[in-house]
Amino acid sequence: MKSLFLFLFILSIFSAASFTQTKHKNGQNISKKLFGKLNNGKEVYLYSLQNKLGAELKVTNFGATVVSLTMPDKNGNYKDIVLGYDNLKSYENGTSYFGAIVGRYANRISKGKIKINGKLYQLSVNEGENQLHGGKIGFNKMLWTAKTFVSKDGPSIELTLLSPDGDQGYPGKVTLNVTYTLTNNNELKISYEGTTDKTTVLNPSHHSYFNLTGNFSNTILDHQLKINANEFTPIDKEFIPTGKIESIVNTPLDFRKLTAIGAHINDNFEQLKFAHGYDFNWVLNNYNKKVREVADVYEPTTGRYMQVFTDQPGLQFYSGNFLNGTEIGKNGIHYNFRTGFCLEAQHYPDSPNEPQWPSVILKPGQIYRQTTIYKFSTK
Ligand code: GLA
Repeated sequence: MKSLFLFLFILSIFSAASFTQTKHKNGQNISKKLFGKLNNGKEVYLYSLQNKLGAELKVTNFGATVVSLTMPDKNGNYKDIVLGYDNLKSYENGTSYFGAIVGRYANRISKGKIKINGKLYQLSVNEGENQLHGGKIGFNKMLWTAKTFVSKDGPSIELTLLSPDGDQGYPGKVTLNVTYTLTNNNELKISYEGTTDKTTVLNPSHHSYFNLTGNFSNTILDHQLKINANEFTPIDKEFIPTGKIESIVNTPLDFRKLTAIGAHINDNFEQLKFAHGYDFNWVLNNYNKKVREVADVYEPTTGRYMQVFTDQPGLQFYSGNFLNGTEIGKNGIHYNFRTGFCLEAQHYPDSPNEPQWPSVILKPGQIYRQTTIYKFSTK
């Protein structure tokens, strides 16, 4: 009898710790395990999605966060290519937005102030006097609900967040659905749909840090980047757009051809000094609300190649300048300066205060939509 109890006890520990398979279809798998409990006792899950080719995406419903993504190199070796943590506590305490959905407003809002229909709203501020990525408790720090399924393109997870009226100072109760699909074509496809019950602003983005070498002790400086943009929105010392749109031609921000990220990162250029590297919004070409290719990245040692497609007007390219070795990631790795880069599809920063830029207003009855795809292959 005693040994039966012992056996059941060990079995229960084992099953709590390992993934339970919930769905399986033509080589596509979806499974789920407990990731941990929040301070308020709520359970958080980690979901694993595998496509027909053998790539794997792990997502937690805390912050709708991508925890890991494996992709093959030119010799077929799969490695995790996104930065992140291996436990929930670190996601609760972390300050780098690894893999998360950021919002309501990705990027910065000057002084955390917006005007809607002539009424001023003071939002929560969390970067000096300004708001970054939605305020003190952004979407990346909230618990989302999750539903998994195998779609026609591959295994999917749909995450839903209810952001109440007044959340971080924003008007309107917002419902946001974000669906990640790991397609059978090795794409990470992200589809967003949002609604509100009062006029508000909505501009979420995805904040994965990539390192296509799959070895996070390497910097990303030898990755080659191309961005389909001729212009950017210059910033002041506090990273707030000046309101101008300027050409990137003959500047270190010219990535119209594949160029190593490190080639000009230390050039004597005021904007690079303000941002300690690259941390700017590029004004993407051909904005007509349709999905088009906007950027690609090639990593020469592994041959990994990533293409970015989006229907958004802007792309924030951030070269991991705030990473300084204090963040301890998966497998105990310290993430050092410039060991990951982000390509965040979004509207231009501070658009609520720059009415000449594409609008970020969402009204009751309208549906906010965004599609962004990161596609992986080798060359
Ligand atoms: C974005 C910002 C950066 C930085 C990171 C998070 O990419 O533009 O300045 O805040 O998020 O550290």
